Amino acid sequence: MQIVPSILNHEKYPLKNFKGVASRVHLDVMDGVFVKQKSYLNSSKVGDLKTSLIKDVHLMTQHPNYQIGHYAKAGCEVINVHLEVGGLLHLRKLCDKYKVKMGIAINPETSINKLEPYLDIADEFLVMSVHPGKGGQKFLKSTLTKVKYLRSKTKKIIKVDGGIRKEHLKALKIAGVDIVVIGSYLFEGDPVKTLVDFKKI
Ligand code: DX5
Ligand code: ZN
Repeated sequence: MQIVPSILNHEKYPLKNFKGVASRVHLDVMDGVFVKQKSYLNSSKVGDLKTSLIKDVHLMTQHPNYQIGHYAKAGCEVINVHLEVGGLLHLRKLCDKYKVKMGIAINPETSINKLEPYLDIADEFLVMSVHPGKGGQKFLKSTLTKVKYLRSKTKKIIKVDGGIRKEHLKALKIAGVDIVVIGSYLFEGDPVKTLVDFKKI
């Protein structure tokens, strides 16, 4: 199981520090429509981030169809769009056009079986373990059941995002998660040191 840092609220953190301890960086984008908050990051700021890590962007946005091309040009290799915004078949075509991997993100209140028509469509899945929109929320334990169900349906990459702390890692691993996205908990201390400590577990 990989741990991927989320730099929400820490967008100026030097990404070169993560070299060798993480393979990706999770980049949160919020439009003030799909979620109440607007993020610091937009496609231009994402483009300005110089890093050898895979840019894995999480679009908490209502109209990702207008944005996929911009984020692809900003160097994102994985673009996660929300199931709840609809139009996923068209979004898949856009991801193919711009040669990026498509992740489908799903909110806590959305039933996991709503993903079933898209199991062959997506490259990866991003299961939200908090309500999207801000960092530092409490991990929703119901996520574990959702992940177990999804794992029984697909061998593709399953990521979990939100509220994850050290004490959740074992259960997430057992549930079959491939990648955990962690923000606030890493930045409570030195994020690199915490990532190195996690690798030893
Ligand atoms: C929440 C974001 C998450 C967030 C995770 O809306 O999508 O990526 O940054 O951070 P923590 O670990 O603080 O919940
Ligand atoms: Zn996120």
